Amino acid sequence: MKRTLGTCYYPEHWPEEIWEADARRMAQAGLTWVRIGEFAWGRIEPELGNLKWDWLDRAIEVLATTGLKIVLGTPTATPPRWMLHRHPDMLAVDAHGNPRKFGSRRHYCFSHEGYAQECDRIVRLMAERYGKNPHIGAWQTDNEYSCHDTTLSYSQAASEAFRTWLKERYGSVGALNRAWGNVFWSMDYGTFQDIDLPNLTVTEPNPAHVLAFRRFSSDQVVRFNRRQAEILRKHSSAPISHNFMGRTTDFDHFKVGGELEIATWDSYPMGFLEDRVAADADHKRAYARQGDPDFQAFHHDIYRAVGKGRWWVMEQQPGPVNWAPYNPAPLPGMVRLWTWEAFAHGAEAVCYFRWRQAPFAQEQMHAGLLRPDSAAAPGLDEAMQVAREIAETPDASAASAQVGLIFDYDADFAWTTQPHGEGSSYFQLVFDTYRALRKLGLSIDILPATARDFSDYKLVTAPGLMHIPEALKRAFCETKATVVLGPRAGARGPEMEIPVPLPPDLPGLDVTVSRVESIRPDMPMALSGEGNVIGYREELETSADAMLQLKDGSPVAVANGNLVYMAGWGDQTALDRLFSRLCNTLEIKTMLLPEGVRIRDTATERFWFNYRAEPVETPIGVIPAADLVRQAL
Ligand code: GAL
Repeated sequence: MKRTLGTCYYPEHWPEEIWEADARRMAQAGLTWVRIGEFAWGRIEPELGNLKWDWLDRAIEVLATTGLKIVLGTPTATPPRWMLHRHPDMLAVDAHGNPRKFGSRRHYCFSHEGYAQECDRIVRLMAERYGKNPHIGAWQTDNEYSCHDTTLSYSQAASEAFRTWLKERYGSVGALNRAWGNVFWSMDYGTFQDIDLPNLTVTEPNPAHVLAFRRFSSDQVVRFNRRQAEILRKHSSAPISHNFMGRTTDFDHFKVGGELEIATWDSYPMGFLEDRVAADADHKRAYARQGDPDFQAFHHDIYRAVGKGRWWVMEQQPGPVNWAPYNPAPLPGMVRLWTWEAFAHGAEAVCYFRWRQAPFAQEQMHAGLLRPDSAAAPGLDEAMQVAREIAETPDASAASAQVGLIFDYDADFAWTTQPHGEGSSYFQLVFDTYRALRKLGLSIDILPATARDFSDYKLVTAPGLMHIPEALKRAFCETKATVVLGPRAGARGPEMEIPVPLPPDLPGLDVTVSRVESIRPDMPMALSGEGNVIGYREELETSADAMLQLKDGSPVAVANGNLVYMAGWGDQTALDRLFSRLCNTLEIKTMLLPEGVRIRDTATERFWFNYRAEPVETPIGVIPAADLVRQAL
């Protein structure tokens, strides 16, 4: 697979006289791709029906003349101001009932049919005009679905669409009442029309109601994207992509990805460390200029799965950003390291956001590859270095990992609906597991919960999978792989009810979860030997062999045949003990990596990454700070 680079460019931000010089400079820097258009609706259609394609025609031409390939974005994340005159009720509404106003972006509600038709129209016009243009190498639908917390909307349009969705799912209101347990607190509904969105209730709404609303909201994103993809496909054979985000779980990315050719994501390692990684101050300080050593890799692996093997980084942080609590500059070397790390995980392209820093509006403080005065910013040199390096490095295909990790958006909806303890997050649980496996030097494949064939793997782990469909239970029992489940495995049925027989109810695994508890963060429960259970814990009735126990002898991890059950949230030491032992039994080679060092294999190479701000001694010698080593295998 060929590795390529690109950048995100906004011709509408710059005088036309400089487009050509910009294009030449991009090509000289070794870039292949330039993404444009995704926020340009206001310039394409300054007023309804007054379409101004000429500038975009010229921009595409000028960029392509230097050999650059275009990723063309549909502009639907930024409906212009006039759109609100036509559709005053298209705004998304937050959980407090406040409309989200015009003046930034993503102010639309996914359920507003009038706005959806405007999107159909602009996407169709764009596809008709550029669908056969040979310079369009790929499409991007919209921009970062869900960014700024925009999946859930409590608008009138959402209310109505939710009722239609409920009717389709449950058929009759009686069936819905039974499924949700509405006998409780006299919550039975007489008609679908009576059902509201689950916000502004006196105390917590019924979790079944909340889960249904989350599933509905996810489906609205899938539907919104599908409409665009179907229109683009009618007019163009170029692959369709969408740029997903980091730590965003409120719609099912696998379902959106199922209707795209390429999944891309936007990687801001330092912004994420400050804003989205749960870690203590020491960790944040140690990695402030590098980003968390596992966070990017985790998303690379998720989006490789979402894209069914085809994925890119569409936006790579090239320097300080504007939006995190603190926005330091990266250590020299990190832009190169992040780029190579994406390639090590199988990315086809890494594009830097953005070409030139904008001296105006919301992202004035966001670095580009160029400064606002067009001089090179430090990120450009590193991008150019990678361009030279990939030209000299043989192409490689993805490695086949021995370990599979299931990530399920529906499980995240269930945990979010009912965390049971403060701060208890499905994403965090899976990420903790991923981190523990990576510290053992393992390359990991992330799998959706629709996977049934595990024959490629020796070890499969599915932490926190709250609802397990029968067919998946069977697949877990029948596979030759060792499967690690829990906590909360199968803890809820499809409608958020506690199933009887009690969970996890897996044939061949003699485990019944008899009681669950959430525990304060300052009350870790010590294991016999090292490590702790933190935050969440289950009591078991079991005759299975204990692999980990609390000091009082209660089982924490137990094994029965190929199934292992983890009855709590293990800290890194506990997870390390569990997985080291399992890998040892399964003859999966592990190596405990030094702090901040990670490895990742392709089919023919091993990459070593040092995320630390100091040189680190590793089994292959000293790796300088913020640097990497590529070994041919
Ligand atoms: C992304 C977004 C870009 C830009 C960038 C800034 O979330 O897609 O348009 O805002 O963040 O870091």
